[in-house]
Amino acid sequence: MTRRTLLAALGGTAALALLATAAPAAAAPPTSPPGLAALDGLDAAAPNDLVVGGAAAGGGHHGDAAYPDPFTFDEDYRNLLAGEFGSLTPENQMKWDHLRPAQDEFAFADADAIVEFADDAGIAVRGHTLLWHSQNPDWLENGDFTDAELRDILHEHITTVVERYAGRIMHWEVANEIFDEQGDLRSEENIWIRELGPEIIADAFRWAHEADPEAVLFFNDYNVEGMNVKADAYYDLARELLADGVPVGGMGLQSHLGTMYGYDTTLPDNLARFGALGLETAITELDVRMTMPEDGEPTAEMVAQQDEFYDFVLNACLAESSCGSFTLWGASDAYSWVPVTFDGQGSATPWTAELERKSSYCVLQETLVTANPGGAARFAHHPAYEECRTALL
Ligand code: G3I
Repeated sequence: MTRRTLLAALGGTAALALLATAAPAAAAPPTSPPGLAALDGLDAAAPNDLVVGGAAAGGGHHGDAAYPDPFTFDEDYRNLLAGEFGSLTPENQMKWDHLRPAQDEFAFADADAIVEFADDAGIAVRGHTLLWHSQNPDWLENGDFTDAELRDILHEHITTVVERYAGRIMHWEVANEIFDEQGDLRSEENIWIRELGPEIIADAFRWAHEADPEAVLFFNDYNVEGMNVKADAYYDLARELLADGVPVGGMGLQSHLGTMYGYDTTLPDNLARFGALGLETAITELDVRMTMPEDGEPTAEMVAQQDEFYDFVLNACLAESSCGSFTLWGASDAYSWVPVTFDGQGSATPWTAELERKSSYCVLQETLVTANPGGAARFAHHPAYEECRTALL
């Protein structure tokens, strides 16, 4: 019996207790070089109706790092992205602060490089993001614009960016993090909502749809995994907009989880209610961070917990027919946003800093292969898969 089926059979808490007492140490992670994993990665293991994706690391916190831009310069990492994933989300390269150094300037080189790389590798792109309160350039946030000018700026931005990649972007995350934790619109923080009113949200979806009618247009947020007040606010807004004929097509649950916080077991119900509205649903930014012990090595219990969290979210997506996209926010602990943002936390992705697969990778792979009708045949005797299975036994 694999550890995953053990967890499923026992339920999370009981299994964790058992693992903590019975497992002598965390399962040894497989150490295949990235090239081997790349032959048959997570997306290849998935059922045909699920795309498994990852963030393409660059910009953002990497700008302050000692290493060069990961997506541009790390060849092993690029191979891993192309081999593991069926879609890429630019981590920062399509955000306003990256694309718009000045009002009269678009800087497309980094975003173009990701879209071209994805095209060459035959994988999809998820656009991220068009209307957000964060990472906007100073010229925009501190500019002195009339309402009409601001509206034109947003219209021009959405039209220019979305048209540029029309037909090449699977999903656009049009509106990102527009509600606060109380389920109120970020009417102060979000320049667009503050200056132009909530109606600008519908306009953003309409403008994006005009620019690329094929892309599915998403809301995207964190802490909306379960049935809580913030997720309720999205549900109510999506329902209203759909009734008005606004081209909202999807709801994205970021899923930045932490082992110290637990996970919300109402996630499946939440996915189902958005699906019942006729929306696609997606897990858009999954990672599972933990408070690192002093020696820098997660304990066996922490690893088991992390495996369980990853598996819970994947199983929820697999079980929900509207959930066609499952994206990991990071394919290497070396490039994760977590240690930079949360002091003392880390180990959040399924790959080590050296790009070795961790046991959470193996858990995800096993669940995907099991859920995929052709999975067992395709992966039988595959060395990278066998290595994972051995580690999980
Ligand atoms: O802009 C400031 C700059 O003025 C300051 O001098 C500098 C000092 O460190 O920081 C700059 O901000 C950085 C920003 O990227 C710039 O683009 C932040 O420190 C840095 O933490 C930030 O990182 C990105 C973050 O989004 C920004 O919010 C991360 O790379 C990226 O992984 C993260 O991704 C977000 C998704 O887009 C949305 N969902 C949550 C997810 C995690 O935060």
